[in-house]
Amino acid sequence: MSIQWFPGHMTRARRQIQEKLKLIDVAIELLDARLPMSSRNPMINDILGNKPRLIILNKTDLADPDVTAKWMRAFQNEGHAVLAVDSSSGTNVNQIPVEARKLLADKIARQVAKGMKPRPVRALIVGIPNVGKSTLINKLAGRSVAATGDRPGVTKGQQWIKVEGEMELLDTPGILWPKFEDQTVGYRLAATGAIKEQLLNVEDIAFYALKYLIPQYGERFVERFDLPGLPQDLDNSDEIVQIMEHIGRKRGCLVSGGGVDLEKASSLILRELRAGKMGRLTFEEPYSFMAK
Ligand code: G4P
Repeated sequence: MSIQWFPGHMTRARRQIQEKLKLIDVAIELLDARLPMSSRNPMINDILGNKPRLIILNKTDLADPDVTAKWMRAFQNEGHAVLAVDSSSGTNVNQIPVEARKLLADKIARQVAKGMKPRPVRALIVGIPNVGKSTLINKLAGRSVAATGDRPGVTKGQQWIKVEGEMELLDTPGILWPKFEDQTVGYRLAATGAIKEQLLNVEDIAFYALKYLIPQYGERFVERFDLPGLPQDLDNSDEIVQIMEHIGRKRGCLVSGGGVDLEKASSLILRELRAGKMGRLTFEEPYSFMAK
């Protein structure tokens, strides 16, 4: 997998974000609730420094609610303020200004004590591509302000967007990059559609998705694809490939001659996963990271 682009992009993104940090009171770090660690930039602590930070787990409508609760506790235990939201429907989005102001409560109290009228809290949203930054900005603004799929390098004048709840938001988010040198991270990002599928082999992406998800959510796969049973030994690659073949046969993903078209079957599995056909799923649990 080519990661040649990573260091250059990251240096530039980092510089751009650090410029914006000078203008704001609080950084809103947006993560995908289905993969909070893999969708996180590993240099984030370094980039944000001491800036007060609110972590948002986005796309909670797609994530396993029990695991989201575990992630919330894990981040809270690390001393972070964290909120779980669904930017598409807007669930919990109105709590963002409330939480952001809580983070600055001391500063606001000092201003009030001096007889000053506190100005609205200024915030910047940061996160990797596709995590939902534009969707969240639009939701907070109550109108369409951010071009979905905003990319770094597109320079335009920065503007403050007024948000209900005494908050102002920079209209352009800080764009970070995931670091997917770690194979597992890359496959998880690809499985959820955070990075382009074409960067990796689609069969590998589906294989690793099943290898992780079947032990957690096996029954849903049995039901959806009418599987004869669950694999006995997940370390045995053949058993997972057999499941992929079963799904391919079931759904008519065949090559001429009647064999299973594994590539087609893999694409189908990923499409259904992303569309939520297997229900709300999370690809990683906090304990697997805390153990490291
Ligand atoms: P970005 O600015 O961080 O790059 O992300 P963007 O807002 O463009 O969102 C990427 C995709 O994720 C969009 O889907 C968006 O609708 C979806 N999305 C964002 N937040 C949520 C959420 O909380 N829940 C769900 N289910 N989806 C969310 P898309 O397929 O690229 O576009 P579209 O279908 O919305 O047109």
